[in-house]
Amino acid sequence: MALRSDQWYSGEDRNAYIHRAWMRRGVPGSAFEGRPQIAIANTASDLTPCNMHLGEVAQAVKNGVYEAGGIPLDLPVISLGETQVRPTAMLWRNMAAMATEEMLRANPIDGVVLLGGCDKTIPSLLMAAASVDLPALVIPGGPMLTGHFQGRPLGCGTDVWRLSEEVRAGTLSQDDFTRSESSTIRSKGHCNTMGTASTMGLLAEALGMVIPGTAGTPAPDSRLLEASHEAGRLAVELVRADRRPSEVLTRASFHNAIVALGAVGGSTNAVVHLLAIAGRLGIDLSLDDFDTIGSRVPLLVDLLPAGRFLMDDLHRAGGLLAALREVRDLLDDSALTVTGKTFTSYLDDARIWDREVIRPREEPILDEGGIAVLRGNLAPLGAVIKPAAASPHLLHHRGRAVVFESIEDFHSRIDDPELAVDADSVMVLRGCGPKGYPGMPEVSNMPLPAKLLEQGVRDVVRVCDGRMSGTAYGTVVLHVAPEAAAGGPLALVRDGDWIELDVPGRTLTLDVPEDELAGREPSLAAASAYAAPSRGWERLYVDHVEQADTGADLDFLVGASGSQVSRESH
Ligand code: FES
Ligand code: MG
Repeated sequence: MALRSDQWYSGEDRNAYIHRAWMRRGVPGSAFEGRPQIAIANTASDLTPCNMHLGEVAQAVKNGVYEAGGIPLDLPVISLGETQVRPTAMLWRNMAAMATEEMLRANPIDGVVLLGGCDKTIPSLLMAAASVDLPALVIPGGPMLTGHFQGRPLGCGTDVWRLSEEVRAGTLSQDDFTRSESSTIRSKGHCNTMGTASTMGLLAEALGMVIPGTAGTPAPDSRLLEASHEAGRLAVELVRADRRPSEVLTRASFHNAIVALGAVGGSTNAVVHLLAIAGRLGIDLSLDDFDTIGSRVPLLVDLLPAGRFLMDDLHRAGGLLAALREVRDLLDDSALTVTGKTFTSYLDDARIWDREVIRPREEPILDEGGIAVLRGNLAPLGAVIKPAAASPHLLHHRGRAVVFESIEDFHSRIDDPELAVDADSVMVLRGCGPKGYPGMPEVSNMPLPAKLLEQGVRDVVRVCDGRMSGTAYGTVVLHVAPEAAAGGPLALVRDGDWIELDVPGRTLTLDVPEDELAGREPSLAAASAYAAPSRGWERLYVDHVEQADTGADLDFLVGASGSQVSRESH
């Protein structure tokens, strides 16, 4: 069978000589004789601590590739450490996707194993693989083990907010707060709450791109290495079977991923990531599909931030497959996985081992766990809210706007005792969209003003064109599109305007007469804070990024170019 890499390695001419000779540094003599060349696209980096262990995962993959007769090749790719990278890792997701796509295409490879973990890494790898469409599969690096502090389990991400509040309240000493750092991060692996990393690992499996049963395996668990060895073998098989991402990633598999998002109570960030991946494949997936397919899926998995348990609990309780078996009737049976079998065929043997962590269908945590999509004159292209993470009494609410022109404006005024804000206010933050910030940071869940906290208020309605961390919660309307910096009506809101949120009715309305609104100018104070980069990636990004409702990809990266390279290098 002809391999793509033969275009580099086969033949007697000078170019084939060059391609082979430079690679002869210890590889077997037979390396260029019809053996699939398998890249291991690895996001391991010391600056992405959640992915630090992927080197050992790569070693297990290599063993599997060799065993199946292929040649494994390390391909370090751009990695994004969610907690370290400024101004927000989301600014660099598309850059990582573009660079990975180009390196997969430019190199003599036949297939690829994608190693990710921390929030943006799996989305960027999937976007890249979709656009190149070479045989590919994902190994999610897995969550860290649960750490305990003073006898209590700590949810990574979520509990840092609780602990810092305790310091402010005087119930935890500064010393103990600092000491808890190493309990928060007990082991290798990504955040162990149902944040974006956990969500995207599980959704990569629901999409069919992971060997079923693997996602959610804790990073230090030996079964992850076993699965990685198997993934190496499978990558070689994928090349021989010519099974490509475009065969696996279909409308049916996105349908299943959206159902999974609801059942596990996953991060709102999955919306922009799934839309961006689908955009690379030309799949007709829209923001409204998240509501139509997902909003009425029962929430079955009881994990922090909204619930009680953590990722290693989910794994011992039966994992994704056990949860999805409960909602099998909602899944699309036609979706294939990288193994060549359908996704739903893997549900037959799944069992729930702990009904506290994974609820049976008859006893859901909530009847409707998915994401609601809102529209109205404040969000003509849509906005999202996760009702499961919101306060029931605020799901239908009318209040007066308290407007912040930027996150800096918010920080400087939020604890001002004179700020005209009360429990019924709607806090509005603009300038945090893809273009405005730039990069759509996770700032939408604005902390409440101290004076409201003192009154015992724990939640108010918030509206923003940015994102929210998957480890956060509250009645927060996110991803408002178009964003203020792209001419969205969010830029027209003034202090004291009435805003109505109606989640059951799926509307977000700025209650200002149409003719008055038409006469308003966008806020100059907000505009003065919008990003205006003069060069480099930020410039490219701001000029080309699309809005959240289609996944915030760059306009010229939407779609696919396949794996063909037209010209030789010599
Ligand atoms: Fe990496 Fe949370 S910071 S997964
Ligand atoms: Mg995050």
